[in-house]
Amino acid sequence: MTQQQKHLTMRVLMTPDMANFSGIVHGGALLQLLDRAAYACAARYSKRYVVTASLDQVSFKEPIKVGELVTIYANVNYVGRTSMEIGIKAVAEDLTSNQQRHTTSCYFTMVAKDDNGLPTPVPKLDIETQLDQKLYEAGKMRLDMRREIEQRNMELDIDISDQFKAAD
Ligand SMILES: CC(C)(COP(=O)(O)OP(=O)(O)OC[C@H]1O[C@@H](n2cnc3c(N)ncnc32)[C@H](O)[C@@H]1OP(=O)(O)O)[C@@H](O)C(=O)NCCC(=O)NCCS
Repeated sequence: MTQQQKHLTMRVLMTPDMANFSGIVHGGALLQLLDRAAYACAARYSKRYVVTASLDQVSFKEPIKVGELVTIYANVNYVGRTSMEIGIKAVAEDLTSNQQRHTTSCYFTMVAKDDNGLPTPVPKLDIETQLDQKLYEAGKMRLDMRREIEQRNMELDIDISDQFKAAD
């Protein structure tokens, strides 16, 4: 049985300061909470200070209302040399009916830093179950796809800043 701390659960009550005019939680306010959960999960796993390098496949499946209790599940899916993919799932609970809905999911890549602010190696991930293996392979697939997109953009000679030239 591994001693690695790969999972983290964080619960937050949705308050009016997080909401828009119609009482629905802002996507950005929720993302801030998801980023915190990813930070805590990756820092506890690696025993290092970590930074967010990227965020992939954010899916807002259902809206979340003020007054609902949101549970954020974070898991270390994949580990490279200095980076970790943290899978995130958010579940909202209506506290008056106890009904729960899977509202949001995404994948953060967090990078561990040493005391000089440089990327530093993280522990290799213990793969113990078939599910661990599947999550690892899916994380590796997303990394490969991200690299392929970067490569294809380079081949097309597209720089992300190009699209903003008209606005200068
Ligand atoms: C992410 C960061 C640490 C990468 O630094 P770097 O000098 O490019 O370092 P490296 O090229 O050695 O890459 C280090 C790791 O980061 C990963 N990485 C770098 N850029 C990445 C990106 N855009 N998305 C995902 N992973 C990335 C690399 O794949 C590598 O992983 P590995 O060691 O597991 O193979 C650096 O760009 C940084 O500090 N960015 C700012 C992070 C931050 O402040 N976040 C909060 C924003 S407000």
